[in-house]
Amino acid sequence: MNTSPVPRLTSLYHHADAGAYGKRSYPGNCGGNLIRDLLLYFKPRVVLDPMTGSGTCADVCRELGMDCRSGDIHEGFDATSAESMQQLANGGLADFVWAHPPYWRQKLYAADGRDLSRTPTLGAFLERYALFIEAAAGVLRPGGRLAILMGDYQDRDAGFVPLVYHTKRLAFDTGLVQCCTDIVRFSHGASSGRKVYRSSFIPGLHDVCVVFEKPRTPRRKEARP
Ligand SMILES: C[S@@+](CC[C@H](N)C(=O)[O-])C[C@H]1O[C@@H](n2cnc3c(N)ncnc32)[C@H](O)[C@@H]1O
Repeated sequence: MNTSPVPRLTSLYHHADAGAYGKRSYPGNCGGNLIRDLLLYFKPRVVLDPMTGSGTCADVCRELGMDCRSGDIHEGFDATSAESMQQLANGGLADFVWAHPPYWRQKLYAADGRDLSRTPTLGAFLERYALFIEAAAGVLRPGGRLAILMGDYQDRDAGFVPLVYHTKRLAFDTGLVQCCTDIVRFSHGASSGRKVYRSSFIPGLHDVCVVFEKPRTPRRKEARP
């Protein structure tokens, strides 16, 4: 027991019903309940949603009466550009950025070469992903939060790619700190759950939401041993 305003929000997150947010048919749609619970917990005033997809976060914000500004590469908005992120923030500082980026090339989104899912190598993906995290950190007010929902990825060529680890590494490199437990979200209705594979592997049935905070006083990077 604790005084959390959202007691159902715990490190293991499960909601069989996706809620009436966004479009379930959109590739990579994430359902809105986790976003809603995070927003009810952190109570931001201004939310940015720079990889909006089918608009799940925007729908949640509308329901909660929160100011939300969304963009997606499908509309020509590039979240890896610091300038575009500044424009999305309307010159101000955001309380909360919700981001659900592509899990590298697991699903291909726009035909635009700036789409993170179109990066040809893992190195190129991580380079552009780092630009996004830096741009997001740049538009947060001190004490503001960046929540990223990310899943690990694997394929025959790249092997197992620990994208959740890379997310944390890149965020810590920009000076963000993690502000609460990892939230492990059980995947429901993922299209991969219906595929038949000819290879043997241990199926990953979750992704992870990591919430970072911009420290009120900038932190020095930890010296490596
Ligand atoms: C996992 S999907 C998000 C789905 C969304 N959460 C929903 O529920 O519908 C990732 C999104 O990131 C977008 N995207 C990829 N690269 C981008 C970039 N450089 N800037 C902005 N959006 C990008 C894709 O078009 C896609 O809509």
